[in-house]
Amino acid sequence: MAKKFEESGDMLQEEILKKLRKRYTKIVLDHWMNPKNMKKIENPDGYAKFTGICGDTMEIFLKIEREIIVDCGFLTDGCGTTIACGGMMTEMVKGKRISEAMTVNEKKILEALGGLPKEDRHCALLTVITLRNALADYLFNKREPWKRLYRKSNE
Ligand code: FES
Repeated sequence: MAKKFEESGDMLQEEILKKLRKRYTKIVLDHWMNPKNMKKIENPDGYAKFTGICGDTMEIFLKIEREIIVDCGFLTDGCGTTIACGGMMTEMVKGKRISEAMTVNEKKILEALGGLPKEDRHCALLTVITLRNALADYLFNKREPWKRLYRKSNE
């Protein structure tokens, strides 16, 4: 009985995977199933939290040394494609200069993922807006570092 139940569970899982494979590229599914850099970074040099039109939220943490992004993490309560967009974005900005990271846009993320269905493309937009806000936070903190200390003491 337990074996039969297990088998039907496996079949259901296979059926779901089959549907997902029809809809999403291998790259998207890899990021979705094995999230990359989905983590919080303590004391980030740049940070942002943004809620998109669908109601899902993303947080991005940047560690920056001499204008180079040495580490980048993200967290989200969003869907699998948001996890794919977030993970791809971290891979695109790590090791890059701030000015290069600024050029990452929705189109570049979608291209790197091999595309997303129309209904899921706003997940890339959520990622880009959050990234730009995190970069802006870094630039703002650099200009007025005492505000970062103020923010920390109020966390
Ligand atoms: Fe909300 Fe993907 S559905 S960000």
